[in-house]
Amino acid sequence: MWFQTATFYEISIHAFYDSTGDGIGDIPGVTAKLDYLEWLGVDCLWLLPFYPSPMVDGGYDVSDLTGVREEFGTLDDVKELLTEIHARGMRAIADVIVNHTSDQHPWFQAARRPGSATRDWYVWSDASDRYADSRVIFIDTQDSNWEWDETAGAYYWHRFYAEQPDLNFDNPDVREAVKDVVRFWLDIGFDGLRLDAIPYLYEREGTISENLPETHAFIKELRAMVDAEYRDRIMLAEANQPPPDVVAYFGDGDECHMAYHFPVMPTLYMALKREDASDIVKALEATPAIPPNCQWGVFLRNHDELTLEMVTDEDRAYMYQEYAPDPAMKKNVGIRRRLMPLLGNDRSWFELLHGVLLSLPGSPFLYYGDEIGMGDNYLLNDRDGVRTPMQWSGNPGAGFSTADPSRFSVPLIADPAYEPGKVNVADQQASRSSLLNWVRSLLAVRRSLPVFGTGSFELVDLGDPAVLGYRRFDRQTDTLVVANFSSSPRSVELEHPMVDLWSGRLWNDAVELPGCEFAWLGMVP
Ligand code: GLC
Repeated sequence: MWFQTATFYEISIHAFYDSTGDGIGDIPGVTAKLDYLEWLGVDCLWLLPFYPSPMVDGGYDVSDLTGVREEFGTLDDVKELLTEIHARGMRAIADVIVNHTSDQHPWFQAARRPGSATRDWYVWSDASDRYADSRVIFIDTQDSNWEWDETAGAYYWHRFYAEQPDLNFDNPDVREAVKDVVRFWLDIGFDGLRLDAIPYLYEREGTISENLPETHAFIKELRAMVDAEYRDRIMLAEANQPPPDVVAYFGDGDECHMAYHFPVMPTLYMALKREDASDIVKALEATPAIPPNCQWGVFLRNHDELTLEMVTDEDRAYMYQEYAPDPAMKKNVGIRRRLMPLLGNDRSWFELLHGVLLSLPGSPFLYYGDEIGMGDNYLLNDRDGVRTPMQWSGNPGAGFSTADPSRFSVPLIADPAYEPGKVNVADQQASRSSLLNWVRSLLAVRRSLPVFGTGSFELVDLGDPAVLGYRRFDRQTDTLVVANFSSSPRSVELEHPMVDLWSGRLWNDAVELPGCEFAWLGMVP
């Protein structure tokens, strides 16, 4: 059950650290930075796809599901990284992308050939009007889920870029091949796998082709295999769906161990601007209970656009208005910006959101660079603007690479408010009051409070919509989290004296919260 109390940290390999001086981050580069990650206090690294890829979709278009991208290193480098991670008592998960492959994958190349015996590995059609109720996800670039293939003389089905044909899960050979991919990475030593785009495995006429019973049946099969053949490994669902549909990915505790809490994420941002926590409360109330052997993954940002697919039209319009004033900030149905720029570089907002994130039911997922408040560049292609090189120092190349920065695969942030000279790890490690040291302290306090991972959760109505309140408790511990989303001070009455678990300050009848502040309170010993 290690995943129930772990803090996860998401890493874009190409952008983390370049150990070879070619301008591209690599696997040994991650190994070289493990001391930093251990110092920061994260428990489990999530490595974004490092597989061979034509890079149409940031590596989520995979041309060899059991290979390593040459620029990133070798399979031995991956093994070495895992050995070093485990030696530190840390863990790592990887992505498995099995809904689709790259169109350059040998499976697709074989399937499209006329008369191919493996044609059926992908989803083909003579007409482009099948499964018409399925939405298009990448609306900025795709107008259909069907693409004509000249060689095959047929249309093929794709939920994402046209260069990412969907595998046909109705074919038992595909299902077995996918199980072997899962086995491959678990055999290498990963502690778990993030199942990318898992709602879309099957398609059926007259449905939206998401969350189908067949999909859940396959996930159960996969879980049974993982449980039978491995110990302590996890499956994490990437299912961007409304609450009842996300919860379905836990099954009865026999599907995924974890699933991202997509529904609550946008409400955290709405609450800030509205100075009202009601939307968070509503999202949490709408979230069904999950089996005891499962856990949410909670997050503020990741490598994708901040998705607004599942919010109401009104909330989406509000989010765009507040957080995407420049239309170029929009991407698909979401916003391609990083955390700190979204928050207008406001540290009190950053701290407030982390105080909530780290105490909500779930295990927190941090996105690389957000711990130092890195900026973004929404003018870059696709979502590259939130995948720029990690800013290790103010030196040329940001301490990321010794190569000439003009050779970097994604350019450094040049915005004066966020450029490496202004925002970097080295300076912030040296300054006690830095954002980085603040995040590190918060992670340390959280680590001492396993109740935030495994305890019960109960909303507490404090009679003020601006103040979010909830209890996290178990047999040993009782805590109260209060978060003031108003910009003005609030006072919260207490039923008994409580102590601030961070500062040690004692509050007798009430806790005084300045604007945009939170407190984690515990019983007086
Ligand atoms: C997931 C990934 C995203 C990718 C998509 C298609 O949503 O997070 O980056 O574009 O799957 O593979």
